[in-house]
Amino acid sequence: MSEADRLIIFDTTLRDGEQSPGASMTREEKVRIARALQRLRVDVIEAGFPAASQGDFESVRAVAETITDARVCGLARANEQDIDRAGAAVAPAPAGRIHTFIATSPVHMEKKLQLQPDEVIERAVTAVGRARNLCDDVEFSPEDAGRSDPEFLCRIIERAIAAGATTINIPDTVGYNLPRQFAGLIRDLRERVPNSDRAVWSVHCHNDLGVAVANSLAAVREGARQIECTINGLGERAGNAALEEIVMAVRTRQDDLPCDTRIETREIVPTSKLVANITGFQVQPNKAIVGINAFAHESGIHQDGVLKHRETYEIMRAEDVGWGTNRMVLGKHSGRNAFRSRCDELGIRFETAAQLNEAFQRFKDLADKKHEIFDEDLQAVATEAVAAM
Ligand code: KIV
Ligand code: ZN
Repeated sequence: MSEADRLIIFDTTLRDGEQSPGASMTREEKVRIARALQRLRVDVIEAGFPAASQGDFESVRAVAETITDARVCGLARANEQDIDRAGAAVAPAPAGRIHTFIATSPVHMEKKLQLQPDEVIERAVTAVGRARNLCDDVEFSPEDAGRSDPEFLCRIIERAIAAGATTINIPDTVGYNLPRQFAGLIRDLRERVPNSDRAVWSVHCHNDLGVAVANSLAAVREGARQIECTINGLGERAGNAALEEIVMAVRTRQDDLPCDTRIETREIVPTSKLVANITGFQVQPNKAIVGINAFAHESGIHQDGVLKHRETYEIMRAEDVGWGTNRMVLGKHSGRNAFRSRCDELGIRFETAAQLNEAFQRFKDLADKKHEIFDEDLQAVATEAVAAM
């Protein structure tokens, strides 16, 4: 994989993910998750917002002291105190980053910051310059870029790069963009900012309309080479782009996406489970890649197909993302083939075809009354069927 084909995975589970109401983490929990992210081989770990609290400063510092095989990043608003705190927090890391941001949309500048656009540019330039004096890796984000004037974005980004920003991150802060529009914004900015090739282009998409992953992938086609994402799609409100979906989309659709990551995909499910256990945010069963049903088949037609050839109904291998294997769930839609196959696996043998038929009929009757049939149910059904014959 050449550098141009390399997609940088910037994980912000410990920062934006932690901003999910109710998901805050202790220092020890952050360090545990950071170690898991290192095993997963993410490129950048955004460990927190050091100016937010003494606890978060210490968490970011502890992650910076622990992690050796990923860049450790701290978030800072575009002011001196935040930048200095972030710089001090990431200082112990072998590779650190300061990520500074300021809002650029009309509604944010006027109502929240109460600053004129030129004042916003000056603050951004001063912040990036100060951060560059503390750290040679600096990311700049024009917050709410998805609702900002592209002309203004070009001006502020050009100045941020000139001041030393090495990564330019375009956030769709409120998840307002749709894929075609967001791709157009990235294309436009990369073409119009004169020094655009001096920075890595990144995107940070929120999921308010359920298109955070689609927007991120659309941006990759326009040259974005860093995606900011979180495990299980955790994050403010409806969350961020889900890391597992981004990674498996680029891995599975190499024909359509011009890059790849260095992620160790077999660590995806263990990391997802760790994050769910620590935050208490359980993953919905039908969640892509990491939901318990993501590789489960219940209907007879699908089970029969998969038993004949997995690719009939599977585009990825469960083992490749860290599940033990795919699953045949026995329920009322299941067919004789899956029933017999599971019985074989459990060592249940039928002497005659009539016994098998009787057991299958009893299984179907039971499945009409229960959501899922477990191995103990099968044992009972088989014993009763054999006894009845
Ligand atoms: O959503 C957002 O805009 C952010 C920035 C701080 C990058 O989280
Ligand atoms: Zn965000």
